[in-house]
Amino acid sequence: MCGIIGYVGAQPALEVVLSGLRRLEYRGYDSAGVAVVGAGVLRTERRAGRLANLEKVLDEGSDAMPGTTGMGHTRWATHGGPTDVNAHPHTDCTGTVAVIHNGIIENFAELRTELENSGHELTSETDTEVVAHLLEIEIARSRAASGSTGGSATTAAAAVAAAAATAGTAGSSGAAGGAADTGPTGPHPLTEALRAVCRRLQGAFTLVVLHQDHPEVVVGARRNSPLVVGLGAGEAFLASDVSAFIAHTREALEIGQDQVVEARRDGVTIYDFAGTPIEGRRYHVDWDASAAEKGGFPYFMLKEISEQPAALADTLRGRLSPEGSIVLDEERLSDQDFRDIDKVFIVACGTAYHAGLIAKYAIEHWTRLPCEVEMASEFRYRDPVLDRSTLVVAISQSGETLDTLMAVKHAREQKARVLAICNTNGSTIPRESDAVLYTRCGPEVGVAATKTFLGQVAACLLVGLFLAQTRGVLYGDEVAAYVDRLQRMPELVRRTLGTVEPVRELARSLAGAKAVLFLGRHVGYPVALEGALKLKELAYMHAEGFPAGELKHGPIALIEPGLPVVVVVPSPRGRANLHGKIVSNIQEVRARGARTIVIAEEGDTAVEPYADHLIRVPATSSLLAPLVTTLPLQVFACELALARGLDVDQPRNLAKSVTVE
Ligand code: M6R
Repeated sequence: MCGIIGYVGAQPALEVVLSGLRRLEYRGYDSAGVAVVGAGVLRTERRAGRLANLEKVLDEGSDAMPGTTGMGHTRWATHGGPTDVNAHPHTDCTGTVAVIHNGIIENFAELRTELENSGHELTSETDTEVVAHLLEIEIARSRAASGSTGGSATTAAAAVAAAAATAGTAGSSGAAGGAADTGPTGPHPLTEALRAVCRRLQGAFTLVVLHQDHPEVVVGARRNSPLVVGLGAGEAFLASDVSAFIAHTREALEIGQDQVVEARRDGVTIYDFAGTPIEGRRYHVDWDASAAEKGGFPYFMLKEISEQPAALADTLRGRLSPEGSIVLDEERLSDQDFRDIDKVFIVACGTAYHAGLIAKYAIEHWTRLPCEVEMASEFRYRDPVLDRSTLVVAISQSGETLDTLMAVKHAREQKARVLAICNTNGSTIPRESDAVLYTRCGPEVGVAATKTFLGQVAACLLVGLFLAQTRGVLYGDEVAAYVDRLQRMPELVRRTLGTVEPVRELARSLAGAKAVLFLGRHVGYPVALEGALKLKELAYMHAEGFPAGELKHGPIALIEPGLPVVVVVPSPRGRANLHGKIVSNIQEVRARGARTIVIAEEGDTAVEPYADHLIRVPATSSLLAPLVTTLPLQVFACELALARGLDVDQPRNLAKSVTVE
């Protein structure tokens, strides 16, 4: 939820950190703060509100923040409201240690009591502040043990590291940009202190810490919350995601669960919480800084909507091997493991959950396996029946959604097999899974998922085909024919996006509406849910999605004259009778005064008499239709929100990556 960046190198840290925060602000935006160590002083600044508030203060302030070691935070509040005092960084009683945090420290109340009882003064309402004070204690303990009185470089190890850092030389650990190493002379005292503190914490956390006396290091740790390392030349970055440092380096290092990372100018060292050195997995980021910029669009969301043909094409590229098999990205299971699957669960949240609902139709139709789709936040609390022959498909754009991650962990504890569909290389959910299919949509910065939804739907269809093929339910030529149809979808997406201007006009005309209902049947039902979610999160409007057939069982009471009702119509060439049934449903709401907005495929003339507004999409096969019917709904929600004067990239109360349960 929060965005975190730490930096150690030769550049002015404040600039690096602020530019990183600008790219991370989509993760949380109710307050922001920075800390820089330089000239023997730790300076911090933090402000409630958007990053711009903080930047204004920093611009106005006469005090510069000199130094080449620093960190920054953009917050999505959990404990304590979005005030200046609750904004990160948090410091200890001495003001020499600063901490930023993403996640929730579940045992913070008892730790706080313990700290207060021993004389520590905590000033915020956050769970984070306890970490600064626990570090204070650990650092004092380590100094007492080594006979040091504090000040710069309190141990021999720190002295070596500081010397290497000052000289910009490698010491014994190799230049930054190399693989993980074991540090100049073992773990830095700040690393050791953070490791000790982490062992006392319960919950989920990414922590990054700085110490006034140790400009040579920035130290981070993680448990169930994201943290990646950027490896530059003579500099290193710790961040919630690679977008924070992509302008400086595309070389990254994964940090695993329960690990501490010590970043220096001359190298990076990883330890587990027991103190054992760990080799992190290094990877190259396959997109560059321009992909995470607006590229001439006023909002990321508009750019990301327009990128959908390419996102879909990239996700589908190379998925059929020369032998005619569907290709996943990672597979740690055998064909026999997949053949043994007798049940599929899909777990996901929000938009990814809607992609999962669409997948259910395809997976059951193609594989004849029962498939249940479950909100990840509910999954593990209801004792789902799982075993080795259950496949759990976890869908997550970020790969860090904690609800989904916890569902994955629960599934694995029950011995189920897990396949992840994810957009973020190096993130946690794929790493915790037995097989992975990456959506290759590039970075999605707008909080509302758009291009990654299309990527997820395509990936789900590929997983369905993969299972059907592995289990021998579909022949190779049938699979190839579906893949061929899928490969033609990017062009249909492009065509559809070229015809949405009337949708924009319609959306603007409805800016004053109080509510909108969305109806669908078959795969059109999850599309209706997605249309409603987009409108809620972007336009703050009451919007509900229903299966059109369910309307008469209650929701039809909501219909009143003038209420806009969007209907996603299935193809007349699809499931028998379905089309005729939804045409009746449109008539039912229209008879009660609703203003009908009908999304139907080209050539479907039967709906014309009942549509107050008709939105055409290209004809395609039933299971692939969501790849085009979703598009006008994204545009509708975006335009309506803009007409209401709202920020579509950073809607209120939301964050892009939800790393708390
Ligand atoms: O990163 P994930 O795909 O796991 O995120 C899941 C949801 O939080 C996400 O889809 C959310 O619903 C979007 N903001 C919707 O636009």
